[in-house]
Amino acid sequence: MRIIVEKDYQAMSKKAALMVASQITLRPNSNLGLATGGTPLAMYDKLIEMYKKDEIDFSEVQSFNLDEYCGLKDDHPNSYHYYMYNNFFNEINIKKENVHIPNGRAEDFEQECRNYERSIKKVRGIDLQILGIGSNGHIGFNEPAESLNVATEVVNLTDETIEANSRYFDSIDEVPKKAISMGMATILKADRIILLASGENKAEAIQKTVSGKISTEIPASLLQTHPEITILLDQEAASLIS
Ligand code: F6R
Repeated sequence: MRIIVEKDYQAMSKKAALMVASQITLRPNSNLGLATGGTPLAMYDKLIEMYKKDEIDFSEVQSFNLDEYCGLKDDHPNSYHYYMYNNFFNEINIKKENVHIPNGRAEDFEQECRNYERSIKKVRGIDLQILGIGSNGHIGFNEPAESLNVATEVVNLTDETIEANSRYFDSIDEVPKKAISMGMATILKADRIILLASGENKAEAIQKTVSGKISTEIPASLLQTHPEITILLDQEAASLIS
């Protein structure tokens, strides 16, 4: 496990963008695993800047998002489809047919989950997976529990996550209670993983993630088993480990 601490959120995001850019430079047809949420926003901005300066080409990149809420239309401002197109894809030259996001409005969710797993396998897996982390240690929507999902599944969100995500909705009642999320093995099968965390409210989760112990109560702690994991932090998120 490699831990990199940058002085603040912008510096952390710049480093993350450089890592993604170097992956695409070395392998233009890379398969990227992508996250939504507040944390990767500045990384996406920096990647857009690099694209506009002709420094990266996304035309052969395939993307796979970690998760999507169940029940929201793609154009709902809180859907992860909307987030990805508005914050990233609309500004770069990724091909629409190369974008993969679970369909939260599928008629048959189980089939959708199986199809999603298949679409990842079909492209020989994810080369570089970007992750954020919940303050309860979740990754994707793999919430703390006695057992965790192996593959992509429909999951129930915890009250803590619903509360955390309610900042984007008009009221907490509007936050979907279910989502489709990549499972732990789906995530851990990526060749390389970068976990991003910024801010004091992530410090405890990060401390438990790198603790040397693994627990399904801190899903991110399973990342310690991965041979190519980089934990990229700002100083606040690193405050309990440095
Ligand atoms: C998002 C995702 C979540 C977030 C996590 C942190 O696709 O899978 O696990 O990465 O909830 O969210 P932020 O970055 O908003 O603190």
